[in-house]
Amino acid sequence: MKFQNLLVVLATVAGLALAAAPLAAQTIKIGVINTYSGPFATLGDLIDKGFKLYMKQNADKLPPGVKIELVIRDDGGPNPDKAKQLAQELIVRDKIQILTGVVFTPNAMAIAPLTQEAKLPFFIMNAGTSVITERSPYIARFSFTLWQSSYPMGAWASRKFKRAYIAVSDFAPGHDSEAGFERAFSEGGGKIVGKVRIPLANPDFVPFMQRVKDARPDVLFAFTPAGRQATQIMKAYGDLGLDKAGIKFIGPGDITTDEELPNMGDAPLGVITTHHYSAAATRPANKAFIAAWKKEYGEKSWPSFMSVGGWDAMDAIYYVIREQKGKIDPDRTMTLVKKYKNPNSPRGPIAIDPDTRDIIQNEYIREVRRVGGQLANVEFETIHQVKDPWKELKK
Ligand code: PHB
Repeated sequence: MKFQNLLVVLATVAGLALAAAPLAAQTIKIGVINTYSGPFATLGDLIDKGFKLYMKQNADKLPPGVKIELVIRDDGGPNPDKAKQLAQELIVRDKIQILTGVVFTPNAMAIAPLTQEAKLPFFIMNAGTSVITERSPYIARFSFTLWQSSYPMGAWASRKFKRAYIAVSDFAPGHDSEAGFERAFSEGGGKIVGKVRIPLANPDFVPFMQRVKDARPDVLFAFTPAGRQATQIMKAYGDLGLDKAGIKFIGPGDITTDEELPNMGDAPLGVITTHHYSAAATRPANKAFIAAWKKEYGEKSWPSFMSVGGWDAMDAIYYVIREQKGKIDPDRTMTLVKKYKNPNSPRGPIAIDPDTRDIIQNEYIREVRRVGGQLANVEFETIHQVKDPWKELKK
């Protein structure tokens, strides 16, 4: 063979070998700060199961050769100092490229300034106090705000009831829930006859419920964190006979969170809530989600709105990775996330509001009814594509 021809052959072989070699694997580090221990551990578990199910179902949606490494940390509950320390370590030591998770507002507030200093995109899976997204331009939220559920609830309730009592957990999302409900209920001509704030740590709901009963309102509007406290307040409502005294119970969907309904007895029957997600929703995307969930976690396991927060935030993480072909630039990530939309989330159509980086979503008015032998949040009215009312009202 002539020398020149030999060179051509060698070059071709080398080219084929290069083409056949697997692409160098590229790993993207995602930090997760979530609540895995303490009295609120079930909440972190529901979020964790949500984003892990997403990853399992969508492994083929990452660019070829791109892998995600999760660096998962437990904040143990509402504990801002711990959350801040964990975020610092994830930034400095683990060099994460995106941060996600976070159940509790105080933790998200403590982390927010660090994400601005470090230019670290932070996709919130739960924490729902309105102001959080204003604390750093690197935050986008895939959950909800308490104003998003409580303000429409106030408007709806003002058409049915005259006198309302408000009871909320005494921390930022509770204060937002109270303010959102009070504003819309009053705007609609209703009267607030009493308000009470209940401690977040180890609350005893009975004395508070007694106070509500004595005030004889038409309706009690309450917020507690989802999970076991929701069951506790529901039981106190039933045990003290507020339902029999004719006091209707309403609130944001946190108080009838899907995974706790089987633990609540019959007390929640007839309770009306406003929320962006119900496990009982019959949308095809939700039916597919529930089927996948039960296959993965068992027939008796139910996802909650927190699981869907985890699922949707992970979908947005996959989207920004895909759009950047696996090379994460913080500012480009934020530009992209402002365009994020999913017409087909289990909760219905969602989008990130480019002006606020908060989620735009439907709010459903639901009633707890017995469906097929178990309690379910049955959606009966839809308020379409709600933006965070707190931010809309201060424009
Ligand atoms: C919050 O801390 O923002 C929070 C916690 C639990 C909820 C809702 C909001 O159910």
